[in-house]
Parts: sequence; structure tokens; C-alpha cells
Amino acid sequence: MKDKLGEIRSLALKNIEDVSDLIELDKLRVKFLGKKGEITNVLRDMRKLSPEERPIIGQIANEVRSEIEEKISTVKETLKNEAKKAKLEKEKIDITVSTNNERIGHRHPLLATIDELEDLFISMGFTVVIGPEIETVENNFDALNSPENHPSRDLSDTFYINKDILLRTHTSPVQIRAMKELGAPLKIISAGRTFRFDDVDDTHSPMFHQLEGLVVDEKVSMANLIHTLDIFIKELFGEDMETRYRPHHFPFTEPSAEVDVSCIKCKGKGCPQCNYTGWSMELLGCGMVHPQVLENCGIDSEKYTGFAFGMGIDRITMVKYGIKDIRLLFENDNRFLEQF
Ligand code: PHE
Repeated sequence: MKDKLGEIRSLALKNIEDVSDLIELDKLRVKFLGKKGEITNVLRDMRKLSPEERPIIGQIANEVRSEIEEKISTVKETLKNEAKKAKLEKEKIDITVSTNNERIGHRHPLLATIDELEDLFISMGFTVVIGPEIETVENNFDALNSPENHPSRDLSDTFYINKDILLRTHTSPVQIRAMKELGAPLKIISAGRTFRFDDVDDTHSPMFHQLEGLVVDEKVSMANLIHTLDIFIKELFGEDMETRYRPHHFPFTEPSAEVDVSCIKCKGKGCPQCNYTGWSMELLGCGMVHPQVLENCGIDSEKYTGFAFGMGIDRITMVKYGIKDIRLLFENDNRFLEQF
């Protein structure tokens, strides 16, 4: 019997070792350890044994049984793990796969232009400041020396909130704020939204953008103004750009000028875009800060002089990117914006 049990043991262990799935394993468990299994079969003959031999064989049988049980449970564990692994492998989700529905935004062409302009002026030593879009009539007109009867002050041209407050019509009130807050010397630019009562068409919008510049120091001259703007224009549009300064009038600068640049398309040769003049539409207004404006801000106009300039950012953006209609900049149509 002892031998028989030994045979069962080695056969069982070998069979169990070779098993490849859990169903097969359970069949082996029944075959060797079940009620009608091999070990039980052997033990049935126990009665034939002497009382001395019985406990010995009984013990051996128990050992064989527990050895087989143990083997079954290890193999079971291994098979279960393998099954789990195979399942995970099969159900693997690749989270790196693109679903193609993420939409990555980017800068609006107008903001890209503002960034570029600011970077240029920063590289020339200017500081960027900001001013509010809702302004006082005082800062927007009075301190800037515009007379009571100036046409731009008309109710039909300007969005008044009440008689003292309005939506700024230009970025020039930032000059006043900067001079009052920071004093002289001063070298600032300020970009932002401006508002005028305009009918909408290809080139006009009641809301548009300007960039203002102001330099106040001792011995600042018109030559400094022209040099600064020429460098700026060449940096922005290219070395071969020519500038033209036409006399103009602004209440807050004296003398004042408007600046034209050579046609971006033909670089001054003359083409249909510039009506064969060689010049693009006017780019900016500028001039020497009026002494009265300096005095209005508490700056000694005997000691200090200054120059200022203001330009339309929408127009620069349109020229740079070849945009024909200003409305496209504000409609937020993705089909337009995605092109930049
Ligand atoms: N504020 C003027 C405008 O809106 C532009 C300007 C700014 C002119 C500074 C001279 C100096 O037209």
C-alpha cells in the first residue's frame, strides 16, 4: 500500500505539473483526492492491515494528500495569474492614441502683432504700461490740450458714459496717466482698445486698437523721434522700407506729423495696391509733446521736452497678414482664425 500511495503521489504531482488550464486541474483534483478518487480507493483496503500498520499508512496517506493539495493550489495560483495577465494583455487600452478631437488654440493675429510691437519697443528701452478703456474726459481730451470745440469731442463721434466719463477715443490719455504717475524722464508704450462712433465697413470698426509711445527727457528732439520711428518701421517691415513725414495737426503735439511707409507690396516702385504712388496708407501720427501738455502733468516744460506717437494696430495687422476686411479680426470665425 505504501508503494501504491507512492505511485499515486508521483503520478499526481507529474500530471498536475503538466496541466494547462483550471478545468483540467479540477478534474485531476477529483481523480486523486475526490470521494471516489485514487487515495480513497487505496484507503478502502485499510481494514486488511494490521492495527500497527494502519496509523503508519494513514499518516503516509495524509501526507500524500496534503502534498497533492498543496501542489494543486500552487498550480492553481499560477494558472490564475497567467489567465489574468492574458486578459489584461488582451484588453490593453492605448491611452496615447490620438482621438483627433482635441483643439489646440493659438494667439489671435492681433495679439501676435501687439506682442511683436511690444518686443520691438522693449528692445529699444521702452517700458510697457497699461491704461483703462473707460476714461475721464479730462484725460482723454482736456489734459491733452484739445479745445472744447474740437470735432473729436462731439457726441456723435465719441461714446460718452456721462458728461465726464467716456470710452477712450485713443490711447493718448495713457500719456497723461504715465506723466502724472511716473514723472520725467519717461519712455513708455501702451497698447489697447479704443472706441469711436464709426460705421462698420472693410476698414472701420467702432472698436479698434492703438499703440501709444511717449518719451520725455532733457533735450529730446524731432530728430530722436524720426530716428526711433525709422528704426521701428525697418525692424517691423524690412530694411528696404522708406518713411515719409507729412505735416499734420494734433492738439497735444507741436509740431505734428503723419507718417507714411513705402508700399509693402511693391516697396515703393508703384503697383495697383498703392495706386502707383509707391506709398502705403498712413501708418501713424506723431509729434513733439506740446509744452502745455507737459505742464498739465506737472512736468517742467523749460527743462523737459518729449515726443509721442500713436499707431493703429488693426491696420498694421491687416497689412502684415494681407487681411482685406477689419471685421474678420473681431468676428471670431474659426475658419479665419485657424489660418494663422
Ligand atoms: N492720438 C492720435 C490719434 O488717435 C495719434 C497720436 C498719438 C498723434 C501721439 C500724436 C502723438 O490719431
